[in-house]
Amino acid sequence: MLFGKQEDRPVLDKNNIPVHIAAIMDGNGRWAQKRGLPRTAGHSAGSEAFQRAAEYLQSLGVKYFTVYAFSTENWKRPEEEVQAIMGLLDRYLRKAIREMAEKNIRLHFFGDLEPLSDNMKKLIAETNEISRGTTGMQVNVCLNYGGRDEIVRAVRSLARDCARDGMPPEAITEELFSSRLYSANIPDPDLTIRPGGELRLSNFLLWQNAYSEFYFTDTLWPDMDEAELDKAIAAYQGRKRRFGGI
Ligand code: IPE
Ligand code: IPE
Ligand code: MG
Repeated sequence: MLFGKQEDRPVLDKNNIPVHIAAIMDGNGRWAQKRGLPRTAGHSAGSEAFQRAAEYLQSLGVKYFTVYAFSTENWKRPEEEVQAIMGLLDRYLRKAIREMAEKNIRLHFFGDLEPLSDNMKKLIAETNEISRGTTGMQVNVCLNYGGRDEIVRAVRSLARDCARDGMPPEAITEELFSSRLYSANIPDPDLTIRPGGELRLSNFLLWQNAYSEFYFTDTLWPDMDEAELDKAIAAYQGRKRRFGGI
């Protein structure tokens, strides 16, 4: 890995920027606790870190940025925290609706959106509508997302085709299965970043992460600035991807 003299920032190979970067936005609560602030202040800082990261990765030429915002398991948190996270999403979406066309960002959602509030569903429908007209980096926000839930939904959809339309089970291929996931038509992540010090996937993109390169760091998500993202990309650029070959 090459390091520039200034700020110890690695020099990135502009010809080897990951096409798809995924991030588990973890560590917001601890970021706030370290500062004597309520956990919700950490989510607010995390939301700002997300917007900065999206703009920076777009400037590097990343085509897809998938972020884990709220898992199917995060409903276990106190109602007050869940509401604070939903409130931040609401604010982000309202801002995105105003700025998406100008910034040329496409927003897309992965997850079971049915249990969300009517207001949130309306905002999501509006962003989807605007996304049809934008051509820039696609940001996939995983909201009430679980990798297992996504797989079970894909299985149900294929089982319906078999039971109802008589599709032979042998017709089910990896490609057909992939086409029933939220990520249909999107290449798998090249690099998956998990800040916050935990060394686990927490139900994130279980199928799509088959051959992703992982980058784990103790840095907390609200502190993932451009220099920290560069470190993750530099680590990726130092890897040898074999996909099972030699
Ligand atoms: C991630 O930060 C945000 C969500 C899960 C919504 P956390 O809230 O999990 O932060 P820590 O892990 O408690 O520090
Ligand atoms: C993963 O973080 C989910 C999101 C960042 C949205 P968690 O904080 O929920 O993960 P665990 O509970 O530490 O595995
Ligand atoms: Mg966490």
